Amino acid sequence: MTRPSLIAIDGAAASGKSTVGCILARRLGYMYFDTGVMYRAVTWATLERGIPTDDEAAVTSLAESLVIEVTPPTQDDDRQYTVYADGQDVTWAIRQPAVDAAVSQISAYPGVRQALTLQQRRIAASGHMVMVGRDIGTVVLPAADLKLYIQASVEERARRRYQECQARGEDVTYQEVLASMRRRDQIDSQRAHAPLRVARDAVIIDTDGLGIEEVLARIEPMVKNQSES
Ligand code: DC
Repeated sequence: MTRPSLIAIDGAAASGKSTVGCILARRLGYMYFDTGVMYRAVTWATLERGIPTDDEAAVTSLAESLVIEVTPPTQDDDRQYTVYADGQDVTWAIRQPAVDAAVSQISAYPGVRQALTLQQRRIAASGHMVMVGRDIGTVVLPAADLKLYIQASVEERARRRYQECQARGEDVTYQEVLASMRRRDQIDSQRAHAPLRVARDAVIIDTDGLGIEEVLARIEPMVKNQSES
């Protein structure tokens, strides 16, 4: 009786996939890996180094050379993990609105995706992993044992993201967050390479109006069912 060794969770921005994935991994004793941080780290480094975001060749070359490391939290400030880019702690820097605004453009570049997908497959190779992103079930781990697609309306997702920004004291309005989320949704789902879509064998979980425990209550029997098969 084995549990699903690789669990892929995909969904749009602020769908709740990271929170669900992190708690699920903790309860199962699995590793948790949020692939969005890699796209965010490349975006942060692009902006930090003054590379124009439309210079695809320069951004791709940066993605190929940037050393991204994700470790258990190194500080007690509500972080789920610590992210390093070339040795620098960028855990909070990659959550800035400037990164939000540019990350979809940068994650649409095929060379960037190729570089990060290879690293993600290596990270997942040891198994016992919950991996979260946009293309995990479709591209990164097509043979994952369990695939979940977390769904929520754009208004609900913007509300959640707006509350996170407020908690961090960022100066943005709900309307700005909503507009930015709509723009990202459009780019993420319409890009040519590995767009956000539901894998054929994924289970769709609609989280509108549900609390985190209610979402987990729908998922946990699936993990148990797999372990009994
Ligand atoms: O999940 P997130 O909001 O932190 O992701 C940031 C961006 O990274 C998102 O706009 C799309 C991109 N991304 C991706 O293209 N593929 C992934 N597997 C994860 C994230």
